[in-house]
Amino acid sequence: MALPDSKVLMTKTIKLFIPGPVEVSPKTLTAMTQPMIGHRSSDFKALYRAVYPGLQKLFETQQPVFLSTSSAWGIMEGAIRNLVNKGVLNCMCGAFSDKWLDVSKRCGKRAEPLQVEWGKAIDPGQVNAQLATGQFDAITLIHNETSTGVLNPLKEISQVVRKYPDVMFIVDTVSSFSALPIAMDDLGIDLMLTGSQKALALPPGLSLFSASQRAFERASQLGDRGYYFDLLEFKKNAEEFMTPSTPAIPHIYALQSKLGEIFAEGLEHRYERHAQTNRLVHEWVNANGFEFFSQEGYRSVTLTCVRNNREIDVAAFVKRIREEHGFQIDGGYGKVKGKTFRVSNMGDETVETMKPLLAALTASLASA
Ligand SMILES: Cc1ncc(COP(=O)(O)O)c(C=O)c1O
Repeated sequence: MALPDSKVLMTKTIKLFIPGPVEVSPKTLTAMTQPMIGHRSSDFKALYRAVYPGLQKLFETQQPVFLSTSSAWGIMEGAIRNLVNKGVLNCMCGAFSDKWLDVSKRCGKRAEPLQVEWGKAIDPGQVNAQLATGQFDAITLIHNETSTGVLNPLKEISQVVRKYPDVMFIVDTVSSFSALPIAMDDLGIDLMLTGSQKALALPPGLSLFSASQRAFERASQLGDRGYYFDLLEFKKNAEEFMTPSTPAIPHIYALQSKLGEIFAEGLEHRYERHAQTNRLVHEWVNANGFEFFSQEGYRSVTLTCVRNNREIDVAAFVKRIREEHGFQIDGGYGKVKGKTFRVSNMGDETVETMKPLLAALTASLASA
């Protein structure tokens, strides 16, 4: 087989500032190249055991944390199969949260939308009104809607959901996890999931999740859970620090390395670093006559979704930044492609590493 040509290899020099996958450090990539081990071996159990306490700290849970060799959608679908019986309310405010309705229906479940306009946050009052109908025994929420840059009011929504003990609270923290505190147990979350390629700055292909005791009980009452994403299989295997099927061991090596960095930096510093780099992007938006796509007061700290109120040619802007400066930003997702553009600050980025990007945005705007 021919090796990739130099054009393909050149893409490696482009630094990613899209909202996932994000830039993966050489240290993380090197960690992935450690010798392979058997997934039923004591070496693997030791590896899983080594990452376990750090993951419980990040999830702020006493519950088991599971490693799934899939992208986040696997767990999102698995959550529906394992936890929905009567019906699920899908909170929808952007491309990823909207898609969950479709996925719920494809899993054969009764599902209803709680739709708000893209750019707006989910209203806890509306959640209450829907759950009060008694038609639902599960709800899905995307904490940080990556397509619009909206950070939903998780705490306020959790206070509503917990008034309904039969309702499973399923929360996607794919693009917020580890960038700000999310206290799974205190918030009464029944299933919390995330992916590897966002703020954790690992390559795509691994997802992490945790589930409450109530979630295990619900799963045990439901059939048709399948195998690959069966919550009870994950639980049984995790009791012995194993996974139901052969996991992406290189990713778990990378996770171990990353957890070491996260706790060496300290969680408070890490959260503050994300807030600080995010503020820098916000300042750029304000200084350059742009507006935010997301509602004030509900803005993501890991990415910025910029409204194209200046009506620039977003595709040309993104291309210029890539070709002339070697940075990749995103030209808008789904139906807001071209009407928005998105800049990520999640992962390993610092004020120092964000500044060249912001300078490139300014320079590329001048020639727009
Ligand atoms: C908030 C959110 N949820 C879910 C997903 C789906 O993740 P994946 O494509 O890794 O399955 C994404 C992807 O960007 C996302 O941003």
